[in-house]
Amino acid sequence: MKTEVYTIENPEGPLSERDLAMIARCGDIIKKGGLVAFPTETVYGLGGDALNPASAEKIYAAKGRPSDNPLIVHICEIQAIEKIAQDIPEEARILAERFWPGPLTMILRARDIVPRKTTGGLDTVAVRMPSDVTAREFIKASGGYIAAPSANISGKPSPTTAGYVLEDMDGRIDAVIDGGAGAIGLESTIVDLAGDRIQVLRPGYITDHMLSEALGINVGTDPALLDPNCKERPKAPGMRYRHYAPKGEVIPVRGSADRVFTYITEGLAKAKLEGRKTGVFCSADNADRYDADVVRSAGALDDAEAAAHVFYTTLRDMDDEDVDIIYVENFTDLGFGEALWNRLLKSAGSKWEEA
Ligand code: TXA
Ligand code: MG
Repeated sequence: MKTEVYTIENPEGPLSERDLAMIARCGDIIKKGGLVAFPTETVYGLGGDALNPASAEKIYAAKGRPSDNPLIVHICEIQAIEKIAQDIPEEARILAERFWPGPLTMILRARDIVPRKTTGGLDTVAVRMPSDVTAREFIKASGGYIAAPSANISGKPSPTTAGYVLEDMDGRIDAVIDGGAGAIGLESTIVDLAGDRIQVLRPGYITDHMLSEALGINVGTDPALLDPNCKERPKAPGMRYRHYAPKGEVIPVRGSADRVFTYITEGLAKAKLEGRKTGVFCSADNADRYDADVVRSAGALDDAEAAAHVFYTTLRDMDDEDVDIIYVENFTDLGFGEALWNRLLKSAGSKWEEA
């Protein structure tokens, strides 16, 4: 299969006539049961018709993903939840009004119209309304319900550009809409509104603090995410798999800034002696201080947004450069930093080192 690339002229909007015509063509591909990757404000999605079980099967095949790992249904207007979800709690309506369109996914009780292939066999459905202009126009052109996981091969870092989508998906899908780099860089927050209590199943840009404030209750995070040794399994099936992983070994280092710098410097020297190709992901201040084969940096250690924005790109760059060992400095794990730390731990196989 040849994968067409459609490049959006004006991704920030307003979309040009040419953009709209390309998006309409991509909508037709979806309606006929095809697959189109598209930009969102988080990462690129691999879209198919959410209400067509055959499309869900194609998505699992293209990604090489286990079919018990459910897909997120992307919508372009709030009312669209009525057709696919039932027993929608008041809290869901409050969060939708407050955070949609945006990087928040809600788990709701599914109606029968949603194929169980899309939900990975579950009676709940994950729903999100992205803020990206191109994404919403594409969802509209496709009939309003797009099932989309991140557009990477299962287990690899999520793609933040159309180029990375093609690295994984060229020849496996009908088309890619190139709308530039996603603003956020990490996947949406997932919040469960179908279980016994409202909780975050995957941290993201919308923090538990923001959700708590909007609802006036204390919204916690799935305990299995915070403690890698927790006996319980994460409630979002996707969080159980090894994930977001580059080929090289990722080593997050924790501790005070000085000690982390010394620890990583020594680690790099040792790795070099062993003949390993070395990489570091660090704050901008330290970028010139490390002697590594590949150094990538972002903002300050307390700037989670800057680090998250380039995190997956950095992991993929390290792969492209065949780096064997990747040290990562101690970026904040507060606020949005919790999401960064969560993905970093997953990419490292749930381990870190103390400086
Ligand atoms: O930002 C995002 O959410 C991106 C963009 C493309 O929208 N999408 C994304 O999809 O990250 P994916 O498939 O890579 O991750 C979906 C996560 C998985 O961990 C999956 O297990 C979980 O959502 N999930 C989906 N439906 C669920 C459900 N009914 N109950 C619990 N977890 C669910
Ligand atoms: Mg994913």
